[in-house]
Amino acid sequence: MDRYLVFGHPVRHSKSPFIHTLFARQTQQELEYGLAEPAIDEFAHALRTFFDQGGKGCNVTVPFKEQAFTLVDRLSPRAKRAGAVNTIKLTDDGVLLGDNTDGAGLVADLKSHGVTLADSRILLLGAGGAARGALAPLLAELPSELVIANRTHAKAQQLAAEFCDLGHVTAQTYEQLAGPFDLVINSTSASLQGELPPLAPALIHTDIAIYDMMYGASDTAFVGWAKRQGARQTMDGLGMLVEQAAEAFTVWRGIRPGTKQVLRELKRNLGVI
Ligand code: ATR
Repeated sequence: MDRYLVFGHPVRHSKSPFIHTLFARQTQQELEYGLAEPAIDEFAHALRTFFDQGGKGCNVTVPFKEQAFTLVDRLSPRAKRAGAVNTIKLTDDGVLLGDNTDGAGLVADLKSHGVTLADSRILLLGAGGAARGALAPLLAELPSELVIANRTHAKAQQLAAEFCDLGHVTAQTYEQLAGPFDLVINSTSASLQGELPPLAPALIHTDIAIYDMMYGASDTAFVGWAKRQGARQTMDGLGMLVEQAAEAFTVWRGIRPGTKQVLRELKRNLGVI
């Protein structure tokens, strides 16, 4: 049977096996999907061993995405732009192709929530790997402006400079931000510590769309905060997780699974509904 897995550390709580097993069932594809948690300095070896032993493809998650970028034979244009790889496919001619489906997953999830990106004014919080992966797919939707704000301003400036060929991207400090924005995307890892990016409450209005790339069984710190400021449309990253997986599955199998039912089952599994 064709073998796939996700590499991460820690990875025990990954929902990817659950999601891909449901995709496989739904599309009647014969495959198995497992987990691998190599020691931090053992990833390159573990990756090579997996493919030497007949593995067909894998996902890569924290903290290995940047390293995976350096280990594949060929990169997709979107992986090149993201500077990170979350999906690897062994092609028929034996080439390890590195791809990145995170940004496409974000955009697909935003659209499935009815968020309009074209001509919108987007605020992207954070300038780490998650922000970098989101930028090209977001700019491809032709927003009127995309502003990056980051605690370490120089990193936002660097990202804006790197992506300015793709659209109207600027970097501003949290203090400089002036609304109104149509959409705020939190790509920071602040929610992991239950912290909030230092965003002025005045920037949140009832018609703004709020997206936190993090997710949990209950509201993330950022989603909870935005709701208290009056935001009516708030989304967390669970849908992005399912959509990036669907995109990876499509890369591997050439068939696109439906995501709605799988997302519902995942929410049930997490105890969200
Ligand atoms: P990832 O790959 O998930 O993006 P990362 O590259 O470590 O992770 O980046 C984390 C991002 O969250 C950074 O933009 C970080 O800001 P700094 O560049 O200033 O470190 C941001 N971040 C983390 N904790 C934060 C907090 N409490 N408030 C604001 N930003 C935070």
